[in-house]
Amino acid sequence: MKTEGIEGTERFLSPGKGRGLRALKHFKVGDLVFVCPAYAYVLTVSERGSHCEFCFTRREGLSKCGKCKQAFYCNVDCQRGDWPMHKLECSAMCTYGENWSPSETVRLVARIITKQKTVTERTASERVLALREFEAHLDKLDNEKREMNRTDIIALHHFYSRHLDFPDDDYLTELFAQVNCNGFTIEDEELSHLGSAVFPDVALMNHSCSPNVIVTYKGTVAEVRAVQDIHPGEEIFSSYIDLLYPTEDRNERLIDSYFFTCDCKECSTRSKDKAKMEVRSSGAPPEPEEIQSMVRPVSDLDSTAPPSELLEICELSLEKMGSVFDETNVYMLHMMYQAMGVCLYMQDWDRAMSYGEKIVKPYSVHYPAYSLNVASMYLKLGRLYLGLEKRSPGVKALKKALAIMEVAHGKDHPYLAEIRREMEEQP
Ligand SMILES: C[S@@+](CC[C@H](N)C(=O)[O-])C[C@H]1O[C@@H](n2cnc3c(N)ncnc32)[C@H](O)[C@@H]1O
Ligand SMILES: [Zn+2]
Ligand SMILES: [Zn+2]
Ligand SMILES: [Zn+2]
Repeated sequence: MKTEGIEGTERFLSPGKGRGLRALKHFKVGDLVFVCPAYAYVLTVSERGSHCEFCFTRREGLSKCGKCKQAFYCNVDCQRGDWPMHKLECSAMCTYGENWSPSETVRLVARIITKQKTVTERTASERVLALREFEAHLDKLDNEKREMNRTDIIALHHFYSRHLDFPDDDYLTELFAQVNCNGFTIEDEELSHLGSAVFPDVALMNHSCSPNVIVTYKGTVAEVRAVQDIHPGEEIFSSYIDLLYPTEDRNERLIDSYFFTCDCKECSTRSKDKAKMEVRSSGAPPEPEEIQSMVRPVSDLDSTAPPSELLEICELSLEKMGSVFDETNVYMLHMMYQAMGVCLYMQDWDRAMSYGEKIVKPYSVHYPAYSLNVASMYLKLGRLYLGLEKRSPGVKALKKALAIMEVAHGKDHPYLAEIRREMEEQP
């Protein structure tokens, strides 16, 4: 079979990294490198009602599925389009009621299996890498990961038996492992989680902590744009992880989720590590265990606890860390980010704004020049300012967000139109 590939790029073997994607032509900052429709995707449960299940459009007044009353659509076309996937869940959600609780990965895998049954030829999402070719790293799974994989298979059988003929367990084990190291989460412009998906061609790109492209989403389509000049022959790298943290933390995460250690320039020079772990001028550098004991409280937080309690824990932790760490230290920023999230949830806009103000400058130092984390922080802060009728700082913050998003999302992305509208609407 002849495959078309992606114009201006080619799949190649990247030494030490498996397969990868490289440029055959020059891409400037902001250039669209390629787009990839989702092979399969699923809207997260908490966003039901605010986004269309089929096209991920966000708007008020979506229409409910008459049967389960849990899925929402733009119109009949979206509802019809979604039925082959929604039918896997529609009646099961009614039958199980409160007890319907498959994980998002299980929901996604059910959709992948359904798609694989109906479409056997290569899809438009698989121009350079087919889903069946995904790396699984089966030989590297430890007992804990094997156990999680078993649990997922059991849940898949439990919640989807009515509408799925299951492949055998070996196939499912591999499929779950493939989805774990090649799957994507879809976020909105403020980086709120919207759903999970597989974009096979996007998964061909290897990771760098100094990525030369950024992946954004328009509905359920992934778009890849250059955020550094890319020259012919150079490998195209995206980032798989949050780049806020120091080299050691990043690599812990990369090994745990993707089974490799990064050898990018940031990882070998560690040039940003010192600033990321800045201590107060008087203090001696803390021991790693000490850091762990200070940072742990929030990652361990019981998210069912009342928000006021969560905020208290964040603030106590900030106080404790603050005696050792500088305010620009990434562990401080991590905790302030959590606190800001809780304040937003509690609609304590003033307090959320003060956290945002403390976070945004150091964020711009620690993250790469074009970063969705920095853009979304300017965006949240700008929207807070405008909501609090602080027009001038509001517009200024939104302009900073726009400058990054024009490159990462492209000038004509609906998110940008919306932000421009918000800037103009103000008196
Ligand atoms: C999403 S896939 C990327 C495509 C992959 N190279 C392949 O051949 O299928 C992720 C896997 O690629 C490899 N990988 C990605 N970035 C890497 C890097 N910077 N160094 C070494 N291996 C990398 C790891 O095996 C990782 O689990
Ligand atoms: Zn729709
Ligand atoms: Zn339904
Ligand atoms: Zn790196």
